Amino acid sequence: MDIDLKGRPVFVTGAAKGIGRAIAKVLAECGAPVAVADLDEAGARETAAAVTAAGGKARAYKLDVTDERAVGAAMDAAEKELGPLYALVNSAAILIPPRPFHTIDLKDWEAIFSVDVKGLFLCCKAIAPRLIERRRGVIVNIGSVAGKIQRLNMAAYCAAKASVIHFSKVAAFELAPHGVRVIAQCPGTTATDMVLKTITGGDPEALAKWLAGIPMGRLAEPEDQARLTAFLISDLASHITGQAINVDGGQVMW
Ligand SMILES: NC(=O)c1ccc[n+]([C@@H]2O[C@H](COP(=O)([O-])OP(=O)(O)OC[C@H]3O[C@@H](n4cnc5c(N)ncnc54)[C@H](O)[C@@H]3O)[C@@H](O)[C@H]2O)c1
Repeated sequence: MDIDLKGRPVFVTGAAKGIGRAIAKVLAECGAPVAVADLDEAGARETAAAVTAAGGKARAYKLDVTDERAVGAAMDAAEKELGPLYALVNSAAILIPPRPFHTIDLKDWEAIFSVDVKGLFLCCKAIAPRLIERRRGVIVNIGSVAGKIQRLNMAAYCAAKASVIHFSKVAAFELAPHGVRVIAQCPGTTATDMVLKTITGGDPEALAKWLAGIPMGRLAEPEDQARLTAFLISDLASHITGQAINVDGGQVMW
């Protein structure tokens, strides 16, 4: 039962590294042409080059997801180079090192909501009319288990990710009659810079505390996330929409 995404171009944000990069690579392995979009242009180019070297098709786009005009332009360019988009994966997000909510700078709070919520909304808004017109397609919004449970000292990120989950459900409700599915994929603690640098600051003791909260006893690898994304975009998941699905080694069992 292979996952076949041939002829289904996918636009992936935050694909210069981490989970987004793994998603771009795995989708391409399944045959999807991939638009690699990220603020980090050099990283996006590296991802696209890796996909191409592995025999896939990819184009890199420098994109700030908080810029509505730029989002539309990048999708237009991707459709010109790769064909009509079939799916969107919103992986771009930021967070700040953990701290009590009453010590969070307003500018940090606003930056997190700007990228993690507004940017994701703008990308969904830009692709929705294209998918509605074609009466097919999938949006996978990368949320987090942090949007389902309380994480100590991560109020802004938790609130933003809860917004992603609930926005995705309403979007799924609205787009279902048009044949378009929307799913929130919720990673648990995954081995990327976000965890290994920003959250734990590279401190092995801090990382050990996170590991202790994972029943499966290991961090998720970015590829653990990417395999679910590929499944969700494929026809194997053709009756799944409006769900918030965890890939977290049992951290959060609902
Ligand atoms: N790593 C984890 O443990 C974990 C857990 C739960 C959820 N997530 C979510 O998974 C997704 C990917 O996380 P990651 O760990 O790969 O993070 P990461 O920091 O490794 O990668 C994030 C990417 O987003 C890009 N980005 C940031 N701001 C942008 C903007 N304005 N426009 C375009 N691109 C921008 C960055 O350049 C980077 O390439 C995020 O939505 C994150 O919240 C991660």
